[in-house]
Amino acid sequence: MSTAFLCSDELLERFQALDQFLHAHQHLWRPRPFQHLSLPWEAEFPELANWLRSRTLEQAKESDACLANLAAPEPFPELARQAFHLAALGELPCSSALTHPDSFSVDVPGRKLAQIQAFASHLPFARQPRHWVDWCSGKGHLGRWLTQAQQRLTCLEYDPALVESGNQLSLRLGVDAEHLQQDVLAADSDRHLDATRTPVALHACGDLHVRLLQLASSRGCTQLAVAPCCYNRIASTHYQPLSAAAQASQLLLSRDDLALPLCETVTAGARVRRLRDRSMAWRLAFDLLQRQLRNIDQYLPTPSLPGHWFDKPFPQFCEDLANLRNLPSPGSQDWQDLEARGWQRLAEVRNLELLRNLFRRPLELWLLLDRALYLMEQGYSVRLGSFCDYRLSPRNLLLLAERP
Ligand SMILES: C[S@@+](CC[C@H](N)C(=O)[O-])C[C@H]1O[C@@H](n2cnc3c(N)ncnc32)[C@H](O)[C@@H]1O
Repeated sequence: MSTAFLCSDELLERFQALDQFLHAHQHLWRPRPFQHLSLPWEAEFPELANWLRSRTLEQAKESDACLANLAAPEPFPELARQAFHLAALGELPCSSALTHPDSFSVDVPGRKLAQIQAFASHLPFARQPRHWVDWCSGKGHLGRWLTQAQQRLTCLEYDPALVESGNQLSLRLGVDAEHLQQDVLAADSDRHLDATRTPVALHACGDLHVRLLQLASSRGCTQLAVAPCCYNRIASTHYQPLSAAAQASQLLLSRDDLALPLCETVTAGARVRRLRDRSMAWRLAFDLLQRQLRNIDQYLPTPSLPGHWFDKPFPQFCEDLANLRNLPSPGSQDWQDLEARGWQRLAEVRNLELLRNLFRRPLELWLLLDRALYLMEQGYSVRLGSFCDYRLSPRNLLLLAERP
């Protein structure tokens, strides 16, 4: 398979190859190492399991950035080869770059600005847009960047503070924009779309961008561009396939499964990573404790906790979390040993996750191809490829759809 971007006539073949790969290996990527003391596949591949379990946390972090070359025992290298082959996807063609005065980049965080510029320079639509619709726009930075003289802009956003700031920015920069407070999931959101408008969405989550695909098709939009994000943010408990091919697939994806493509930390800073490590190590230690307190050898989900929980001393953290989950008080424990075992488990979990991570990109591409095939069924010709380097954003894939 080539590393070019994908066009309409290649989508189905790639989808089916990915579907078969994901289905055949689901016992390797579905179970989450965080939730199990031992994973079902470890008995099948003991050499790989022991090798992964013997490595350090630092080694896991380094390896995650170069999974294709990890010298792990089989079947890791063979699965890596297949995963990279199936998920290979090239960059979309570039369109002419837009230039703006420096004032356009004021108030836009650096990474976001770079993402917007990259998105804007990969929109080679055959027809010149007249009216952009920035779907889930935030402050509308993307829409403003795209809107040139003689073009109009409508920004749809449900957070009133972002609508207000966006409006102020557009006024200040002299962009002909309307910032509307709109829940895009509400029944009346389709009134903002018609054949004269070109919707764009940068990192609109699960249901929000799916809704755009459905409404843009039914309202006759002739072209659109969507870079999806957070596939797991959906109202239903399981993924609802859009295209006929995905509806025929035997993969039934839970919200947990849908979070797999999002487990990349390439853009997180060192401080955020350190905090995340501590939070995971403490939760893994607590998991050992709760198995003992409940006398049930089973994972117990814990809610997401505000950052200050991890500023507490570790014994206090466990005491409070036990209380929150209505468990008996831990009483006296060897806290130092328990915390150390949490950190040891974290190293093992992160290394075991490397196998699961091989399926991250294939699953993301499967989800994108479902969207692309759906748009094809709606009469669009579709291109799917990357618009920026994944270090700028791991959600770097863009769907372009145009009706003849
Ligand atoms: C990840 S942000 C992306 C914002 C912007 N496109 C960008 O790239 O900076 C998603 C945006 O969707 C907005 N949003 C969430 N749910 C929404 C809904 N139901 N209707 C409209 N906007 C929504 C959020 O307030 C947020 O501004």
